[in-house]
Amino acid sequence: MKPPFKIAIAGLGTVGSGVLQLLDRQADLLAQRAARRIVVAAVSARDRRRDRGADLSAVRWYEDAAAMAADPEVDVVVELIGGADGIARQVLDTALDHGKHVVTANKALMAHDGTRLAARAEERGLILAFEAAVAGGIPVIKGLREGLAGNRLERVYGILNGTSNYILTTMRESAHEFAEVLAEAQKLGYAEADPSFDIDGIDAAHKLAILASVGFGRPVDIAGVYAEGIRHVSRLDIDFAEELGYRIKLLGIARLTEDGLEQRVHPCMVPRATPIAAVEGVYNAVVAEGDFVGRVVLQGRGAGAFPTASAVAADLVDIAAGRHVPTFGLHTANLREIPGVPIEGHHGAYYIRLWRASM
Ligand SMILES: NC(=O)c1ccc[n+]([C@@H]2O[C@H](COP(=O)([O-])OP(=O)(O)OC[C@H]3O[C@@H](n4cnc5c(N)ncnc54)[C@H](OP(=O)(O)O)[C@@H]3O)[C@@H](O)[C@H]2O)c1
Repeated sequence: MKPPFKIAIAGLGTVGSGVLQLLDRQADLLAQRAARRIVVAAVSARDRRRDRGADLSAVRWYEDAAAMAADPEVDVVVELIGGADGIARQVLDTALDHGKHVVTANKALMAHDGTRLAARAEERGLILAFEAAVAGGIPVIKGLREGLAGNRLERVYGILNGTSNYILTTMRESAHEFAEVLAEAQKLGYAEADPSFDIDGIDAAHKLAILASVGFGRPVDIAGVYAEGIRHVSRLDIDFAEELGYRIKLLGIARLTEDGLEQRVHPCMVPRATPIAAVEGVYNAVVAEGDFVGRVVLQGRGAGAFPTASAVAADLVDIAAGRHVPTFGLHTANLREIPGVPIEGHHGAYYIRLWRASM
């Protein structure tokens, strides 16, 4: 067997501690699949005293995650802190500058800076892997990039935010209004104290921009994504949708048209008989339509410690085993700009509810 593959993990919160537990419990399995052992050599988080659900006594602890990313004994740096800039970005840049492969779950950073980071990794012959950044445990990046490499995609769309899907599902099932269900979701830990990233479609927009890049071979363009969330969906809309044979879902849709690429996130009425209408609660689903394969539906848990750790582990096994695919499926020099179609140019069916104010 080759020498152990040494990793450093920046961020030991929900995902980071899930990764620690997976690496511990599946150590033998991963060693077989990667043909070498994957060993945690260093970690960094803010609070050293917090229990991370794993024994870290033999692991180097860094106060400064960026300094850890330069650790000469480490082969790969796993960034699980989050945020589009600040320390997470510093960790990735430092790791790549020091010749280390990188694994990240950070959709915000990949959506805003993914093309630059991919180019930087490429220049140095390094891997930038990000399966966990889109749809948690669902292997959608690998599925599109490698599994559907023989197809031209026409459309990629999906339920990309579990919190919004949970709220819409619960509104329908419980007959409660948006605000009540959101408050309940916050109590249960399904929604953040500041829920705007989830319910205003921003998190889904980040994931859609990344999917569009992988699916259509274009640079990531978060500025070109139209994002509208679910704040304005009422119980009444949900009831009307049911009556008409539809479910309301927050979808992220990337579609190639004659005019260019549409990238949009907004509530949609989907026919009740379609597979995506049956994706309920915190589950995610991604549908890809290719010219040779037809329709492919991938569904599963889009968030949470263990599902997301599963995606991180898959990236680690690939890198440890020496499997190397360009970040977005093509070398960055070959990613081609596709003109964006603004939402105003979108042709499609609309649901309009007219409400007559009482005289
Ligand atoms: N949660 C999910 O289900 C999920 C799913 C897919 C992708 N992601 C992505 O995964 C990433 C992590 O998410 P999460 O939910 O695990 O976040 P989280 O629970 O808030 O954990 C963040 C971790 O980063 C650490 N941290 C913060 N600032 C730091 C700094 N300056 N230096 C070193 N460590 C620092 C925190 O340390 P302390 O613990 O000491 O405070 C914590 O351990 C994000 O990019 C997120 O978008 C999350």
